[in-house]
Amino acid sequence: MRVKSKMNFPLTLSLSPKGEREYEWIICTMELAMEQVKKVPVKKIGIIERYQEFLPVTDKTPIISLNEGNTPLILAEALPHEIDLSDVKIYFKFEGLNPTGSFKDRGMTMAVSKAMEAGAKSIMCASTGNTSASAAAFASRCKMKCFVLIPEGKIAKGKLLQAFRYGAKVIIVKGNFDSALELVKEITATHPIQIVNSVNPYRIEGQKTAAFEICDDLGDAPDYHAIPVGNAGNITAYWRGYSEYKKAGRSVTLPKMLGFQASGSAPIVLNQVVKNPETIATAIRIGNPASWQGAIQARDESGGIIDMVTDEEITWAYKFIAEREGVFAEPASAAAVAGVIKLAKKNYFKKGSRIVCTLTGSGLKDPEFALSFDDKMDAVEPTMKAVLTAIGL
Ligand SMILES: Cc1ncc(COP(=O)(O)O)c(C=O)c1O
Repeated sequence: MRVKSKMNFPLTLSLSPKGEREYEWIICTMELAMEQVKKVPVKKIGIIERYQEFLPVTDKTPIISLNEGNTPLILAEALPHEIDLSDVKIYFKFEGLNPTGSFKDRGMTMAVSKAMEAGAKSIMCASTGNTSASAAAFASRCKMKCFVLIPEGKIAKGKLLQAFRYGAKVIIVKGNFDSALELVKEITATHPIQIVNSVNPYRIEGQKTAAFEICDDLGDAPDYHAIPVGNAGNITAYWRGYSEYKKAGRSVTLPKMLGFQASGSAPIVLNQVVKNPETIATAIRIGNPASWQGAIQARDESGGIIDMVTDEEITWAYKFIAEREGVFAEPASAAAVAGVIKLAKKNYFKKGSRIVCTLTGSGLKDPEFALSFDDKMDAVEPTMKAVLTAIGL
């Protein structure tokens, strides 16, 4: 018989009368199930709803969310071969795909939700850019005022325009990030404004959920976790996340934490405050990290390393992952990849191991750096001949 269901399953089958009845019953059940599935609204939940058992929230906490988190873990295809590491697997945890384009959204949903619960009307942060973009977005969502202090001249344009468009009050400080953060601490200690830098403990709590997601995706923790280090909140958060997940029995192993600073801004590596930090990776241009101790703890407890990479190494990694992996991350993110490349050259990694690199922010954040290369953009006549000549055909 020829059966054509409403679901468009054209099938030609030879069936007995009993078989025919059973077949029709199966098709009918499938159609009913599909109707039910269609009725379920597509819902992407944020990190608080997803991991609330691990977070300091109660039924009374208002959840201010932009459906952050659940970012992809992308397997690197070209990189392992390029650096003679074909016996390891390298993954990119691409945090640039969060709602405001960086990992900060994980911590900000927590910090702003808790600020709201406490009755705060305004929040404030110092920022190399991504924190301000994220704070401004979450504040706009719950009608809070947001004040951001930004070091003069050293912020990527994409981040600055985000803060403006989300409606924050932007104050440019004639100094570096460290001096801006000191000011924010002073002001928020004496005024009814909630600080949302990573010295706010809820930020670290939210950010640790990235480690949970990685364990959920891989089935366990990776062997190594590479991450850029600026104010050192994120490395602190990941280590807490991995440790808590293991303690809860949701993972079995722990990774070695590999933190990378830019060589012109490497206070933890040099074991001294850097007064005038410099690097093209403006997001990690920090000379006196607030979570310095957290980074040391992550390094020592995990048996890992905190090392530095040059601007040249960062730039090479930045271009490579965009041009060969199709992943466009900002320069600071590329520091993690540059660090893995540096260690691979020293035969640091064990055969068969899994390495995760956190790519902390989107490449779209920093258009000026992205366009600072020798890209040719000559206009041609609108003819086939001209276009073919331009592409060398
Ligand atoms: C894109 C990006 N990567 C890395 C970092 C460094 O993170 P942390 O300051 O938590 O060490 C930042 C911090 O602003 C950032 O924006």
